[in-house]
Amino acid sequence: MCGIIGYYGTNGNAVKVILDGLIKLEYRGYDSAGISYLSNSNELKIDKSIGSIDNLIRKVDKHIKSNLGLGHTRWATHGEVNTDNCHPHNVGSITLVHNGVIENYLEIKKHLQNKGYQFNSTTDTEVSCALIDSLYNDTKDIVEALYQATNVLIGSFAFGIIVRGIKKLYAMKRNSPLVINHNNNEGFIASDTSVLAPHTDSYILLEDNDIAEIDPIITIFHHKKQVNRISRPIINTDEIEDKGNFDYYMLKEIYEEPTIIEKTICNFTKNHFDLTRYNHVDIVACGSSYHVGLLVKYWIEQLLNISTNVEIASEYRYKKLIVQDNSLTIIISQSGETADSLAAIKIAKILKIPTLAIVNVIDSSIAREADNIIYTKAGKEVSVATTKAYIAQLLSMALLIENNKALFEGLPKELSHIIDNKMEDITQFAYQLYQSEHIYFLGRGVDYAIAMEGALKIKEISYIHCEAYAAGEIKHGTIALIEKNTPVIAIVTDNNIREKTISNMKEVSSRGANVLAITNEDILDFNNKIIVNKLPMIIQPFNIILILQLLAFQIAKLKGCSIDKPKNLAKSVTVE
Ligand code: F6R
Repeated sequence: MCGIIGYYGTNGNAVKVILDGLIKLEYRGYDSAGISYLSNSNELKIDKSIGSIDNLIRKVDKHIKSNLGLGHTRWATHGEVNTDNCHPHNVGSITLVHNGVIENYLEIKKHLQNKGYQFNSTTDTEVSCALIDSLYNDTKDIVEALYQATNVLIGSFAFGIIVRGIKKLYAMKRNSPLVINHNNNEGFIASDTSVLAPHTDSYILLEDNDIAEIDPIITIFHHKKQVNRISRPIINTDEIEDKGNFDYYMLKEIYEEPTIIEKTICNFTKNHFDLTRYNHVDIVACGSSYHVGLLVKYWIEQLLNISTNVEIASEYRYKKLIVQDNSLTIIISQSGETADSLAAIKIAKILKIPTLAIVNVIDSSIAREADNIIYTKAGKEVSVATTKAYIAQLLSMALLIENNKALFEGLPKELSHIIDNKMEDITQFAYQLYQSEHIYFLGRGVDYAIAMEGALKIKEISYIHCEAYAAGEIKHGTIALIEKNTPVIAIVTDNNIREKTISNMKEVSSRGANVLAITNEDILDFNNKIIVNKLPMIIQPFNIILILQLLAFQIAKLKGCSIDKPKNLAKSVTVE
């Protein structure tokens, strides 16, 4: 994924602006971070460190005077996490930071090695850097060299570039986000507008294959011709979030859920969007947002009688799509930047299917593409594992389907009740589970969709292998894995299929499984259980999800994991 930033100025502020910007971009990856800047004596300095931005900040003096620089925060794609693979990369005259993936880098690398280039890292970025250097050596014209590079590189990139001997900042992009702007004497490039917001009130969104030269006046070239791109107001509110009295963002964000629900209900108006106009709905998303889709499918089909298909965005974008008559594509995304979901909405548009985006981040890429937008009211979510945004997505969809605010009015109280009264039960479950190697989840219908989210939550922050199964399916293979004390969490809320799920729970418990039930009605045959209030069908999942989020949190805490920043993950997934 990675976050990039570039700065050109006249007041010596480059290092400070870049380090402050990197803190804002850390959600895009925290494997390593790096900065390069031109010193007062025109020497190019590069500092890099593994791990979070704090490590880099400790290394680099914010007060160093510099007018030109680049910064990068990395989520490793090509090459392990080590200092050699950290950006910025420097080859010959070119220093570069990159967000994206170059697919043909091995081929280019071979070609450049034959020309005598040597490489210190295993990244696709260093290869891009060497390619641009080679083209610049040949052409002696940086814009021409960058243009030629766009013709060679296959894949996605947002590059920030500094060229030895030229006091200008360069940027180019394809399929990775990049925004730029300038004020009177400073120019900026960044992966998102939050970095620009303290310095300008508007931004220019580069188009694919654009090349920008900034000194700080911006000149944009497209296929070597100078072009104008419109400037848009920055409406990103750049909320400052701190942990308040909490030790973890994740817990703070879970505790915000009752308030977010109130806000979402309050903001919902009847004329938001009419789903019933459509004969078919496709929901496309990734990760937890995809799990929202899985759950919502049951509601749309059952309550609105509209056929609904849910697709993982990375699958949707490459499969043959059969366009149904009068259909709608709904893209669900917290960040609004997920590369696969963004590609999916673009495909739906090409196919002339109307689109509705359910997004949390205002003016994000997906929001900009959508024909219709519903902004979720979750506020900024810092913890990598989504909790409050998931709830806001689910509620926004529930309100669209049910269109009856009154039905939801008791929900904030219900969730507060769980927070106030169920922590002991949840902690007791967590103690039973935190040393497990594997946890299986069972559920049917909506409970299966909820189970999938519960399994993902534990997996990503506790590193315990968890899998959710449609309860009726486990006997078709997976039951072979059940041994004495294998933990199995069963979600049982749907009255119509309750007895069926209980039978499946018995099948695993009779083979030794330790079954932990989360249910809205007592199940006499099982002692290990958390019982929540029974609620109308469209409200019930909210209290179960809250229990599962808290359970995942407690398990991760008992294991001493890095809860807010789990290993190998990033908050915004801008590569495919
Ligand atoms: C899990 C989680 C991820 C995201 C997924 C999609 O806790 O947060 O699975 O749901 O990466 O992200 P968005 O919703 O930003 O498109």
